[in-house]
Amino acid sequence: MTTEDLNIQWYPGHMTKTRRMMEADLRLVDAVCEILDARIPRSSRNPDIDAICGNKPRMVILNRIDMADPDRTAAWAAWFKAQGMAVIRTDCKNRKGITDFGPALRRLLAEKLRRYAEKGMAGKPLKVMVVGIPNVGKSTFINQIAGRKGAKAENRPGVTRGKQWVTVDQGLLLLDTPGILWPKFEDPEVGLRLAFTGAVKDDILDVETLSARLMRQLWQEYPQALRERYKIEAGPETTGFELMELAARKRGFLLPGNELDLERMAKVVLEEYRSCKLGRFTLETPQ
Ligand code: G4P
Repeated sequence: MTTEDLNIQWYPGHMTKTRRMMEADLRLVDAVCEILDARIPRSSRNPDIDAICGNKPRMVILNRIDMADPDRTAAWAAWFKAQGMAVIRTDCKNRKGITDFGPALRRLLAEKLRRYAEKGMAGKPLKVMVVGIPNVGKSTFINQIAGRKGAKAENRPGVTRGKQWVTVDQGLLLLDTPGILWPKFEDPEVGLRLAFTGAVKDDILDVETLSARLMRQLWQEYPQALRERYKIEAGPETTGFELMELAARKRGFLLPGNELDLERMAKVVLEEYRSCKLGRFTLETPQ
């Protein structure tokens, strides 16, 4: 995954412009489909999405399920459903879950379809749009739906563009440019989780602190994975830095003078987390 995309200058002027454009697009569609990263469903949400969408019927697309904890993905799906949203789970990279999109949208918009039928407008297509923060998988999703390769949505907020529609199936059209939203930058926990997954650059924190925070959370929630991968054992109160030291010692990451090379260990932990060599983890629960 590239890490440059969240480098967008999301200063307030851009947010306002993006929001205005999205509100204009919203008038053209029957439903909004919000793509989230299944590993961090809360941190990959836009903080203003409810206000932006108003009363539009909503779908949540939990993407990257190939990288997330399946039990927690199920819990999140149930939670979003309980809020009245349609939910599908996708691995866009491998085309999993994509064909659930049409049926799930028709269920969500069943009332509207019934009204169309009553008025003799049975063939009128439903129109929907996809929104999400940079890097969450919007272009990949739209390309999969359209059966095409390579076209990348421009991750530039506030750029005027012509409207084009992608045919999902008969009677269902998707706006072919996604709405690019900003995450909740002001919340440091959100910044941390976006950095764990690589959605933002590592330099929000030094790499060792970032890795220590990740190790600490994994030790609390998925200790077996760390035991197996790094052959470490520790008590429940062990700090992230202590966990990194234990792992660095086991791996023999030493600097001249026998000092532990924690920077090297930190990079290994982050790389192994992001490539799922450590396992499939979800770092947020609905509670
Ligand atoms: P965006 O339009 O929302 O900015 O995101 P985009 O589709 O460009 O996706 C960002 C990266 O995430 C891409 O990887 C894409 O392949 C990957 N991706 C999207 N959906 C999934 C998924 O469900 N599972 C996994 N594992 N990855 C997914 P990239 O490294 O930028 O490109 P590439 O290596 O795939 O060419």
